[in-house]
Amino acid sequence: MRWRALRQPGGCYAESPVPSRKLTVPAIVARKASKEKLAVVTAYDATFARLLEEGGADILLVGDSLGMVVQGLSTTLPVTLDDILYHGRAVARGAERAQVVGDMPFMSYQVSPEEALRSAGRMLKEGSFEAVKLEGGVRFAEHVRAIVSAGIPVMGHVGLLPQSVHAMGGYKVQGADDAAAERIVADARALEEAGVYSIVLEGIPAALARRITESVRVPTIGIGAGPDCDGQVLVCYDLLGMYQSLRPKFVKHFGEIGRGIVEATRAYVGEVKSGAFPTPAHSFGGQKPRTAPPEPTGAKAVVETVPPVYGPASDEP
Ligand code: KIV
Repeated sequence: MRWRALRQPGGCYAESPVPSRKLTVPAIVARKASKEKLAVVTAYDATFARLLEEGGADILLVGDSLGMVVQGLSTTLPVTLDDILYHGRAVARGAERAQVVGDMPFMSYQVSPEEALRSAGRMLKEGSFEAVKLEGGVRFAEHVRAIVSAGIPVMGHVGLLPQSVHAMGGYKVQGADDAAAERIVADARALEEAGVYSIVLEGIPAALARRITESVRVPTIGIGAGPDCDGQVLVCYDLLGMYQSLRPKFVKHFGEIGRGIVEATRAYVGEVKSGAFPTPAHSFGGQKPRTAPPEPTGAKAVVETVPPVYGPASDEP
């Protein structure tokens, strides 16, 4: 990590706790005016975080989608705050530049603004997150206000709300009729008023997403909301072609890593069974003796053994 020394007209500040390459909340908000789209991806561990960041992701979201793609559940509802904290710490270790945002799981913020603030505080203190995301608009504006007033950045989320799957009657596109569309516009405005720095628009008609994007001052991040949002978000297992259980219309596979995993595993299994793997190149030889200099008294030299160490592997035989 590189650290930035801040120099201000009235004095010189010590090193900033914000690494110089980190994408900050003000930089994210500024993307609205600059029109450079925000590329957001979910991540759940350090290795993926590092690779997705190397690919240019601006924001890594530890989504409660981890319930479905990592834990194998059919909804996000059972995901706990401790689950999110665990994956947040892992992702934060892999991310140097991307902002790391954590999803507030079901029932970690709904009961009261106080409980929402307490949960959000744990997300920063114990999950290493830089911002939190929660689902809902008008109904949760007070909760957002409480979190924001404690200095914790909040990303809103309106439209299709996976934590309300039973109330919605399934994962269905929202805002299809005029009244429903007006409610979603009101939700986005209420969140903006409450101080969010960005808003996810999920599963709504493209025209409605465009209208909301044009009417709020903070960036919108679409998923199943058409091309006119200020950014896009995808679940990493979807964009990499690794999750086969559900493939909504808005998902595009930018790779077929799932197939690659199956093929690589088949090759490994084949070589293990045939005995082709491991070769001598993947094996440790005998221990090398190390001879200590003879004692001045003429005592016998001591022969120590050097334990083998793990080093870089080579495919060369
Ligand atoms: O849980 C999640 O991954 C999300 C995004 C898909 C927006 O909420």
